[in-house]
Amino acid sequence: MTSADATERNKGRARIAASILDADLGNLAHAVRRVTVAGADRVHLDVMDGHFVPNLTFGAKTIKALRPRTQVPFDAHLMISEPGRYIQEYLDAGCDSVTFHVEIEEAISPTLKTIRAAGRAAGLALKPDTPLTALEPYAELLDIILIMTVEPGFGGQAFMREVLEAKAAGARDLLRHKLFGAEIHVDGGINRETAESAGSHGVDVLVVGSALFVRGRDMGREVRLIRALADEGYQYGPNQGQPVVASDRMAKVTSLPKHLASRLMAEIEATGIPVIMLRGDGQINPDGVRDYELMVPASVESHVVRAHGASRDRLLAEAEAWRAELLAGQG
Ligand code: DX5
Ligand code: ZN
Repeated sequence: MTSADATERNKGRARIAASILDADLGNLAHAVRRVTVAGADRVHLDVMDGHFVPNLTFGAKTIKALRPRTQVPFDAHLMISEPGRYIQEYLDAGCDSVTFHVEIEEAISPTLKTIRAAGRAAGLALKPDTPLTALEPYAELLDIILIMTVEPGFGGQAFMREVLEAKAAGARDLLRHKLFGAEIHVDGGINRETAESAGSHGVDVLVVGSALFVRGRDMGREVRLIRALADEGYQYGPNQGQPVVASDRMAKVTSLPKHLASRLMAEIEATGIPVIMLRGDGQINPDGVRDYELMVPASVESHVVRAHGASRDRLLAEAEAWRAELLAGQG
């Protein structure tokens, strides 16, 4: 991956997962390389077993063989009847997330737990006719909800707008236990005509298959266009006209002397939110060391201030006392 790819990948809010279902299946390594160069944020791997869906694709062995071909994260979408039986193979293949269908007839929780225990993101997918309530028993175990806007099995079908409309807000609510890093994926029929509508429902990841593999089309341009349209939709949908916050942008919570900054950092990180501590341009303390800045993802800044504002104020007061004591000591 070149640094230019990486820069492209980090702009904006929406993430594009390139489905290689409609690529040349005889040359998947080339497809993975192409979507990487095009700036896709993920590779979406559609696994079909000819039983859960009336089509057959590839399995864990193929995914494992593709893994060294790119640094881009792998999202596996298992359209198979027995994910529990094969889950370890998909984890061993190097999938960063594994999503399977809630409509299967075997137990679901153990498989979700296995995925999470391996440190990967766990997801459940819904066919268009399956209600969101089917996910309720498993909500606490979910990192990802994948909303299918076509019947699973084939690429190139038409986007079912009303399905996303009916499920997006409820899906966000089901993921409320996970303050940072929860993802709603929309899968099926996403292209430049439908991306803005999908973005307006606040989805985090747009799976794009056939629209990327149109002969003669510049794939990189298509990825950028669909991502920008999704962000545009988000701005005029759930974000009340406000421009999107890039998901990698960090916001400063406060600055404190290092020993006190570490305490607040630990408190915030215990809730699952990542914190970066930086030597900032804060005030110089009597010991000659500047205050450190604590940065959190901008998307959770207001939450952090609400939940940890009291601790922050207490530590700021403690910092004042500490400075006064040091100064007095220096006489
Ligand atoms: C369908 C798959 C999708 C689909 C995406 O069963 O899960 O990932 O292939 O392809 P498009 O974007 O063509 O709908
Ligand atoms: Zn898929």
